[in-house]
Amino acid sequence: MNKLKKRIIITSALPYANGEIHLGHVTSTYLPADIFTRFHRLKGNNVIHVCATDDFGTPILIKAEQEGKTPEEIVDYWNEVDRKDFQDFGISFDIFYKTSSIENIKLTQYFFLKLLEKGHIFKQTIMQPFCEKCKSYLPDRYIKGTCPYCKSIDQYSDGCDNCGKIFQLGEILDAHCAMCGSKPITKESEHYFLKLSHFSDELSRWLNLNKNLQPEVKNYVLKWIEDGLKDWDITRDIPWGVPVPLKEARDKVLYGWFDNHLCYISTALKHLSSKKVDGKIFWNSSKIYHFIGKDIVYHHYLFLTAMRMGVGEFKLPDFIPTRGHLILQGQKFSKSRGWYVSLRDFLNEFPPDYLRYYLSIITPYEQTDVNFDWDEFYSRINNELVANIGNFIYRTLSFIWSKFNGIVPEAKEEYNDLDTSFERMIWDIEEDVGNCMEKIELNKALKKILEFSDHCNKYFQKNEPWANERRSTNCLYLSINAVRSLAILLEPFLPFSAERIWKQLNIHESVYEHGWDSISKFMIKPGHRISKPEILFKKIEYEDIKRQKDKLKS
Ligand code: 2FM
Ligand code: ZN
Repeated sequence: MNKLKKRIIITSALPYANGEIHLGHVTSTYLPADIFTRFHRLKGNNVIHVCATDDFGTPILIKAEQEGKTPEEIVDYWNEVDRKDFQDFGISFDIFYKTSSIENIKLTQYFFLKLLEKGHIFKQTIMQPFCEKCKSYLPDRYIKGTCPYCKSIDQYSDGCDNCGKIFQLGEILDAHCAMCGSKPITKESEHYFLKLSHFSDELSRWLNLNKNLQPEVKNYVLKWIEDGLKDWDITRDIPWGVPVPLKEARDKVLYGWFDNHLCYISTALKHLSSKKVDGKIFWNSSKIYHFIGKDIVYHHYLFLTAMRMGVGEFKLPDFIPTRGHLILQGQKFSKSRGWYVSLRDFLNEFPPDYLRYYLSIITPYEQTDVNFDWDEFYSRINNELVANIGNFIYRTLSFIWSKFNGIVPEAKEEYNDLDTSFERMIWDIEEDVGNCMEKIELNKALKKILEFSDHCNKYFQKNEPWANERRSTNCLYLSINAVRSLAILLEPFLPFSAERIWKQLNIHESVYEHGWDSISKFMIKPGHRISKPEILFKKIEYEDIKRQKDKLKS
């Protein structure tokens, strides 16, 4: 195991606490972050994976009003649902907390006061829509109307769900209050703004110096800075959010995007303090990775970073791994049109590792969109996971079980060319896959594992162990060690299956005790007794796929 433990903090973008997790979220964010975390755990590094629900903001308040509940009840409910969904999908957070926690409220207020004190926050009176009937200001999601571009009705005033355009205040047609339907007036209101332009130079410098950021993302963020950063309105006139910590602004709260990313820090500190670790020291001496989808680049590259620069107490991001959107059978996900698959829907039908496998192999470390296709899912699972990986593991284990009474044989023959080249492949695989994992190129890593397993199958096939008893000992001794290598290689991607392989191998230490750096070692010795093998992956019937496709059509 690696003696020099690295400190690593991994965060996944926080899901809003008002709806279920869908396949898009897991593809861009939670799954890659989890695979990367598991890899570092296997490397023996000091890694934590942090997440929470994003509790504040108008959509949650509206949902609470619609359902006759308090916003606290809504966020508690969704926090539990999300936690369970993640757990059943094998997402192994070290802590899953909430932005409405006392720790996050305190840290957010601290950031606000520090930024104010340093002159990065100013006050300005602006005209805001106000509903006279409801007696309240109406922030973006409290106003509905008709999209000025595609004319689709019943859209929120900040953007159109149908054509995807973003609107400025006042652009929406036929504006009306989302709660009572009346036409809003405009009224003066004092708001606080963060002077984002103060940070333009420092942000450009950071972007240019940080060589870990994806160049294609970095370039368009630099372009935004060149075009000029607008001051950012960070307060709202609603009763649900982090209260502005000033007497003169008692009825105002901070905008959700001011507090949510601070929850990465407050939650990490909470977790570390429960381990009796000084969180601030840990944070500032760690490599920091924020996994996100491409729709929240602006917030993470600019808002989050500028706020940390302004306060100057918490290290900036080292990596912001950004991946594209998921589309479904070539079309945009849309819950209202039923063109949608939630994580729970999926888990009700197929094993979690099937989804983890498919999404991992089709999702590159890029911003390009990824297409979820049921037919491709079917063929990849059956041809790759079942017929390639599962087949090699099962045939090796069951051969030892039936022909050697479950005892790993000693290699009885001199190694021939087939044996030595297979042995070399096992020696090389750890570094080969490990290099891709380090670079967060997880799809490439998984493809290498698949190729490795393909070679394993060919090696087994060419050896014909069923035909030659003496030669079969070399073949089975090398193959069972390749199965152990595969179990560790696959653990980050397919944790449930890796655990089953490990049990069948009957190794007493945990997979983490062996660790990533042991992948290329031959740790299963002759004389070791395995457990009774079981089929790892069951073939998918086309009927099951057809049912899923029909569901979308209806
Ligand atoms: O876009 C979203 O879904 C937000 N809830 C993500 C928040 S990430 C953050 F906290 F920085
Ligand atoms: Zn109203």
